[in-house]
Amino acid sequence: MSGETLDLPVEQIDFPVPAPLTSHGPARIIALCNQKGGVGKTTTAINLGAALAEYGRQVLIVDFDPQGAASVALGISAHEDEPTVYDALMRPGTKVTDVIRHSAQPGLDVVPANIDLSAAEVQLVGEVARENTLARMLRPVADTYDVILIDCQPSLGLLTVNALTASHGVLIPLETEYFALRGVALLVDTISKVADRLNPRLKIDGIVATMVDLRTLHSREVLQRVHEAFGAQVFDTTIARTVKFPDASIAAESILSFAPNHPGAESYRRLARELIARGDAA
Ligand SMILES: Nc1ncnc2c1ncn2[C@@H]1O[C@H](COP(=O)(O)OP(=O)(O)O)[C@@H](O)[C@H]1O
Ligand SMILES: [Mg+2]
Repeated sequence: MSGETLDLPVEQIDFPVPAPLTSHGPARIIALCNQKGGVGKTTTAINLGAALAEYGRQVLIVDFDPQGAASVALGISAHEDEPTVYDALMRPGTKVTDVIRHSAQPGLDVVPANIDLSAAEVQLVGEVARENTLARMLRPVADTYDVILIDCQPSLGLLTVNALTASHGVLIPLETEYFALRGVALLVDTISKVADRLNPRLKIDGIVATMVDLRTLHSREVLQRVHEAFGAQVFDTTIARTVKFPDASIAAESILSFAPNHPGAESYRRLARELIARGDAA
């Protein structure tokens, strides 16, 4: 690859529309992870989830960030009196099924989060098998859903380690800008440690380049560097930079329902098809 230039844009082939499922589960659990904020974790969780649901998959999004952005972006506001992921994690009497909410889209459910979750990070430290708490919480619904997407907070702390311990795969959204690769080595190292010590089934499903602007040389150069560093782990599908994503979030909808024919919606459908074609989702 060295010295060669990539023939960008790379999106030449398409991926087949997946066959409908005749039964549901067991779920493949995927964590969206990058300790950098603002790289597209939440946007990818909700829109990939919406795309998989459009293809008839039963999808659960676990909001695992105390900011609660995924919950809000799907129109699920966790009021003070309503239980959240915090309760399902930390209160012995609360089951995950008590906190699951339906979004406006059929097949797309949400475990909401709010600022309460930040207390769990501290409280979990004293627990037995503290890294396995989320895995244990999800067990009762693992046979109900086809895909469970965990939207991680921007840190490599105990909550993220819980997400990695509960997962089969990790999707790493990378913002296509100059310092995108900075910090990824530390993330990959954390994933390896969790795989070694806590969760041998864990693998990196792939890197998703987000906020790409192929009209700029800068974006193309960064994309090329990402391909050089990660090779086949990089998804062929890239997500372009467009204001439609924040617009959809403000409207509390996925881009698939907010602007169904927009290229941004199509790119997440394509990512869903690619994920299934790779065998990383049913
Ligand atoms: N492809 C994109 N183009 C333009 N804006 C985007 C794109 N993806 C995400 N955003 C916006 O960038 C901000 C950060 O994205 P978000 O998904 O919340 O990142 P993270 O969860 O990694 O912190 C949000 O305002 C979001 O709407
Ligand atoms: Mg987020």
